[in-house]
Amino acid sequence: MSDHQQLPQEKGLDHTLDLLKEGYYFIMNRSNKFDSRIFETRLLGEKAICLVGEQEAKLFYDNEKFQRKNAAPGRIQKTLFGKGGVQGLDNLDHRYRKAMFMSLMTADKLEEIRQFIREEWKNHLFDAQNDVNVYEAAKYVLTRVALRWTGVPFQKEEADQWVDEFSDLFEHAADVGPKHWKARRSRQKAEEWLEDLVQQVRKETINVDQNRALYQFSLHKDPNGELLKLNIVAVELLNLLRPIVAIAIYIDFALLAMYDYPAEAERIREGNGREFIQEVRRFYPFFPFTAARVKQDFTWNNYEFKKGTLTLLDLYGTNHDPVIWEDPNRFKSERFQNWQGNPFSFIPQGGGEFDIGHRCAGEWITIDILHETVDFFSKEISFDFPEQDFDYSMNDIPALPQSNIIITNIQIIQ
Ligand code: HEM
Repeated sequence: MSDHQQLPQEKGLDHTLDLLKEGYYFIMNRSNKFDSRIFETRLLGEKAICLVGEQEAKLFYDNEKFQRKNAAPGRIQKTLFGKGGVQGLDNLDHRYRKAMFMSLMTADKLEEIRQFIREEWKNHLFDAQNDVNVYEAAKYVLTRVALRWTGVPFQKEEADQWVDEFSDLFEHAADVGPKHWKARRSRQKAEEWLEDLVQQVRKETINVDQNRALYQFSLHKDPNGELLKLNIVAVELLNLLRPIVAIAIYIDFALLAMYDYPAEAERIREGNGREFIQEVRRFYPFFPFTAARVKQDFTWNNYEFKKGTLTLLDLYGTNHDPVIWEDPNRFKSERFQNWQGNPFSFIPQGGGEFDIGHRCAGEWITIDILHETVDFFSKEISFDFPEQDFDYSMNDIPALPQSNIIITNIQIIQ
């Protein structure tokens, strides 16, 4: 007799519209309904298994059981990720490509990006005369930081233009209609621009810093010892530029937390900025889930997983799992004071290992940029929050406060 259990199954032909409606709560709502951390539904016309929780994350990041090939929907590839990038690779190809990213994440380079971010915030805010829209300001500052840090040459006016193009890629990836098409055009344009630069680097017709990503990615070799295709280098450079600019979303939420929880903002001034930004990454929504496909048939906890099945891991839900987090819906940065987590319990930017797994290559950069930014906003300037609409909707992906967070009366602290 078989010991296999039937997965809890959501009835109905397709639930993609429910996903759009329920946003970040889609998986948690069903997990609560079925009282199960694993269930089956149908999305984008196919069967999908959904997982939430620490043990489930551990399962999801087992490279023997899951792979990334063809896991991301086409419309996400054509906007957010690009085609042929590290996100969709497996095994040796993935390890080589991921090493290319991780080789940039040295202590020196992280220190440098912290310096860049402080300089750019100073340049942008020290002589601000009027109210500042923090989200727009952060995108501008981060675009300049991203271009400088990757060694991509630019004129001042070009930076202004790239702010919009990079932002389209993450702001409208989940949209349908004209905004989605605009995001596709922005990707095409950005890829063409970068391909042209890579060609010039290879022909040595421009001089660029050899220690930076533009040069290093342009000359990176795949496991067969071949240079990467021009378009792949462009896609991977955008895998640095786009998400650095997207940190603007977390910066906006960090400011919201400073407004909503003044005692927490005080803790930043007392030197606890790192705990504060860890709680920002846990508490607020950003990436709802990540996707893979079953690599080969296997059984886990008596549930059968069939080769090729789309599988989603709930990142937001795991970061709010009451089994892992006491009082998960309360913003409490002290929880990170002596935090003894593991790579599967706190997963705003994915879980598991960096080198052999798909955990976010830019997690350390994100933490450093956020830390430097909240320190700057707490210790170098003072400001007020005028009346505005601070609400954000859990159905929008990515979510963002309605007002984008406006600050006023900006003064330099002497
Ligand atoms: C803005 C905040 C960020 C968030 C919320 C975020 C989130 C994520 C998530 C959820 C994944 C997928 C994990 C998985 O599928 O298992 C990922 C992968 C990745 N992220 Fe980030 N990320 C952020 C910032 C960055 C930055 C700043 C960089 C680069 C400087 C970056 C580069 C990457 C790359 C290259 C991957 C693919 C890794 C792989 O497939 O092996 N991300 N990120």
